[in-house]
Amino acid sequence: MNYPLWDVPVIGGSWVIGIIAIVHIYVSHFAVGGGAWLAMVEHLAYKKNDERLYDYLKSHSRFFVLVTTVFGAVTGVGIWFSISLVNPDGTASLIQIFTLGWAEEYLFFVAELATAFAYYYTWNTLDRKQHLQLARFYFIFSVFTLVIINGIITFQLTPGGWIESKNWLHGFFNQTYLPSLIIRLLIMFAIAGMYGLVTATRIKDEHLRVYMVRFCARWLMPIFFLGPIVGFFYLYNVPQASISTIFEGIQSSGIGNFSILARALYLCLILSGTVLIFAYVGPYLNPRGFTFKIALAFMVCGLLTTGTAEWMREMLRKPYVVYDYMYSNGIRKTEIPELQKKNFYNATKWHTADNTDVAHGKTIFKYQCMSCHTENGYRSMKKLIGERDKEAVIAFLNLLKETDPEKNPYSGLMPPFVGDQEDMDKLAAYLSSLNGSKSSTESQKVGKSEAKKKIAASGGQ
Ligand code: HEC
Repeated sequence: MNYPLWDVPVIGGSWVIGIIAIVHIYVSHFAVGGGAWLAMVEHLAYKKNDERLYDYLKSHSRFFVLVTTVFGAVTGVGIWFSISLVNPDGTASLIQIFTLGWAEEYLFFVAELATAFAYYYTWNTLDRKQHLQLARFYFIFSVFTLVIINGIITFQLTPGGWIESKNWLHGFFNQTYLPSLIIRLLIMFAIAGMYGLVTATRIKDEHLRVYMVRFCARWLMPIFFLGPIVGFFYLYNVPQASISTIFEGIQSSGIGNFSILARALYLCLILSGTVLIFAYVGPYLNPRGFTFKIALAFMVCGLLTTGTAEWMREMLRKPYVVYDYMYSNGIRKTEIPELQKKNFYNATKWHTADNTDVAHGKTIFKYQCMSCHTENGYRSMKKLIGERDKEAVIAFLNLLKETDPEKNPYSGLMPPFVGDQEDMDKLAAYLSSLNGSKSSTESQKVGKSEAKKKIAASGGQ
């Protein structure tokens, strides 16, 4: 209620964050996994004193530094911009709770960047042993960026003991911290292997190319064997209410949020299965036939897998931005009883000067609903409101206002509505205006819905 609002038409703010975040995750996982990969390959080159391998490493490190520093850093800053615009309250909480954590994160991030540049620019100036040492340092620093950010990301879904104690370390080392750390490391190795395939397929020397293509394919094996076990360990620790959103959905209203999440889960499993099987029969068994183009197709598959997996993780957390503490619209769970007693509109600091009920209602919509809905695009309010008139919307909002899950079938999906009767009336005026019932006369409206009913009835026969 205290911050200005950013209205993103059609895709909605959450997808702005989503798109930037998915690219960032894909690149930043490469930054860490690729660190292990560089240290390992350079270790091999050093041990074998293999000039060709050194030449390859030099060209790969150029690709590595460009991708991780340009894409990784720019999208990282992009995440901060987008989350602070779309979800200022959530961002402020995360900064306040984990101030020390963020400070450490930046320390390691700067160290990581500095080492990456040093690594790339000192191929000809440092001796080989020192250069190998640099690769190891890079890996250690980058793993620490994961070790820290992982505590904060997992906290959002499973805040653990923090809810009671408000001690940031209790929130940081929560029940999904360890499984998530292991899964992410496994994914990072797999992604490093996939990026490695892109440069390895361009090696001219056939013997080395075949050797490196197979070497890279092996980096996908750990997740193949350990992924399912650790994945189960992770899901086991996720709040059961979230898991059941995947498998049951909201039965009483039957709008089938379940099917989307379940489909995402299947898609994710199918995509990762495909990548792993192809990695085995492709680069591992037939490294000679594996080309640059297939390597690129592999990368796209990997990006899609990352996208669906991260989207699912975000969906698991809904309707919260910090589970059981703050809702996606920035309202804290503990504030709800208080906010339901008083006028909401007057408490908003950034409302329009417009004085109609519909305009006021729109402001209430922006503060309470826009974090998940758009007027006319993603999770379109116009579509979801459907044929409801103002009375029907009020009936819906009364249901949404209930904090008891027994009475409110939407409680696992949406935050409760807050505000008084006047707010509800204004929001209903705005929402019911979306399907045109405001502009059309009453008789036309009835006529329209009658006609639609007839069409639906005849379609059903
Ligand atoms: C945390 C995210 C979130 C917030 C905030 C949110 N919703 Fe929803 N809402 C959803 C989801 C998810 C669905 C299911 C949509 C689907 O299946 O496509 C939904 C569905 C709906 C539906 C259709 C329900 C039905 O049974 O027909 C309506 C109407 C609706 N929301 C209105 C609102 C209003 C009004 C607000 C603000 C007071 C709001 N929502 C806030 C996530 C949210």
